[in-house]
Amino acid sequence: MGFSIRRKFMSRLLPSIERRRAKRALCEEPVRRGTVETLLQAAHVAPSCFNNQPWRLIAIDDPEILTKVKAAMPGGNYWTRPAPLIVAVASRRDLDCTLADRRDYFLFGCGMAIGNLMIQATEMGLIAHPIAGYNPVAVKEILGIPEDYTLITLVIIGHPSEDLSGLSDAHRAIELGPRDRKPLESVAAWNRFAFDDEPPPQKAD
Ligand SMILES: Cc1cc2nc3c(=O)[nH]c(=O)nc-3n(C[C@H](O)[C@H](O)[C@H](O)COP(=O)(O)O)c2cc1C
Repeated sequence: MGFSIRRKFMSRLLPSIERRRAKRALCEEPVRRGTVETLLQAAHVAPSCFNNQPWRLIAIDDPEILTKVKAAMPGGNYWTRPAPLIVAVASRRDLDCTLADRRDYFLFGCGMAIGNLMIQATEMGLIAHPIAGYNPVAVKEILGIPEDYTLITLVIIGHPSEDLSGLSDAHRAIELGPRDRKPLESVAAWNRFAFDDEPPPQKAD
């Protein structure tokens, strides 16, 4: 049995959620601190196991620190260079519930917080693009993050740019292309597990 999404009853929220894309064409125009605080607040009202609030968010808008952090990224993340703002997301396993069956909730909690941040950014006309492609040891050193914290993601934030000339051909095609998703039936089911999973190929973004 499949899924039929009843767009007629859709609230205003789903269009905003759907509008979010991991875009890469960014302007250098700064993001005002008041705006940044709104984004951080959106993250901070996320739910968490026992209300542990495991997210530790570092908003980086100092140009010198931004340059150092960007230098700790591989070539494929060249597109982050104009970004005026990066939010680093760090946490530690013991800052959140650790239950049996490998249920360590700190990553889950941080993911929900950053989900909120991204939707709020989209509502404010900003791009908020999380990345995993960076040297975590180098970035932790630059930001003074203790060794026993996991640097989960860097969220690259800025105003969108109309100028796509700085993007690679592949990234320009993604920027202009439709959203790419598996069919809903391959990730959601009614009443019983019904998935035939293979791990995705490991590739650098
Ligand atoms: C945990 C995580 C890590 C990611 N790392 C990178 C990255 O290093 N570089 C990059 O260009 N995009 C990165 N992305 C963006 C994804 O490629 C993008 O979200 C995905 O292709 C789906 O596109 P959409 O968000 O526009 O729907 C990352 C996204 C997530 C959630």
